[in-house]
Amino acid sequence: MRPLYFDKATREERNHLSVLRAGAWAKDLPPNEFVKRNQVLYSHPFGKKRIETYVLKDSSGTIVSSMDALQLNFFMTGGLDKPILEKAGFLIASVITPIDQRGRGYASHLLDEFLKIQPWDVGVLHSDVGPAFYEKWGFKKTEAKLYEVDQAVSQPPTSMRIEMKSIDLESFIHHIYELRKKQMVGLPEGKLMIAPEVEFWDWQIERFRFYSKFKGIRLPSPYFEAQLAGEYEYFSVVQNSVTGKAEVLWRDSTRSENLAAIASVVKDWGMKHFSYWANSTQGKVIQEECPMGWRRGKIKFLAEDFLDPQLCDWW
Ligand SMILES: CC(C)(COP(=O)(O)OP(=O)(O)OC[C@H]1O[C@@H](n2cnc3c(N)ncnc32)[C@H](O)[C@@H]1OP(=O)(O)O)[C@@H](O)C(=O)NCCC(=O)NCCS
Repeated sequence: MRPLYFDKATREERNHLSVLRAGAWAKDLPPNEFVKRNQVLYSHPFGKKRIETYVLKDSSGTIVSSMDALQLNFFMTGGLDKPILEKAGFLIASVITPIDQRGRGYASHLLDEFLKIQPWDVGVLHSDVGPAFYEKWGFKKTEAKLYEVDQAVSQPPTSMRIEMKSIDLESFIHHIYELRKKQMVGLPEGKLMIAPEVEFWDWQIERFRFYSKFKGIRLPSPYFEAQLAGEYEYFSVVQNSVTGKAEVLWRDSTRSENLAAIASVVKDWGMKHFSYWANSTQGKVIQEECPMGWRRGKIKFLAEDFLDPQLCDWW
């Protein structure tokens, strides 16, 4: 292989890459809007502080592969009777090689270089090309499917009373931060979860704000507290104005009543469908997801060590 150079992308290179990425990921958004959306996401406080774009160039300076790395915080179990650790790690996103450069080992070289320089012990990604490509570096897939629910079929029985209110982002994060930590207590060593952070969550919502603005709609608050049979539950469901469907980003309960609570919010918004991630539950399976986790060191990362992986897919 000719000499290759690994580097951080300049702002101009990033803008140029957005056009390439639009070809792969713009979906229902016009490509120029996708480019604008990326600029908005990089300009968000989380984007400015925590996202870096890396490129691999050949000797002529041509970018032959590229990726983003987000710095996230994770909860990790330290073993039975040991406290839950909170540590920084990475989320790899948007790995892309220009079509005419594919199949020459460039993305692999880029990932080799990134994993060498990154200072953390843990990381995650969502693969769009199945698990095999990333397994070479020890990433392991966690089972997860995308389900879609027709809100009409999951309305709560009239006898069931669900008290619900929208809450602010800080309160939402405060509740689920404690709850996620609690869910990890007693689990064996090495289980990984993305730790809830206000700025990261707001950044996740930023793209939905962008979609709403594009459609001339105001995005309603996506954070909720529900009281079901005397117990408090929290969920985050957001309108995707481009697809016309709602997306659940977090639900801390797998009870069907919880889906009914989400369905009633979605119905109030005048939407007919919502989707969520799970490993097995109700709804129509739309697709198999491919969240993957990674750890440096002697203990190999196992499938299912990455718990609650939904937030690793943000594109
Ligand atoms: C995936 C991608 C980044 C690989 O880039 P590359 O520089 O060609 O990668 P490498 O040459 O290092 O490795 C090629 C390997 O990628 C894997 N791969 C590429 N596309 C794949 C696909 N659609 N499905 C499954 N595996 C795929 C194969 O294992 C392939 O190995 P092979 O050449 O032995 O068949 C490139 O195909 C791409 O940009 N695709 C479009 C964007 C995308 O889907 N990115 C993945 C984000 S998770």
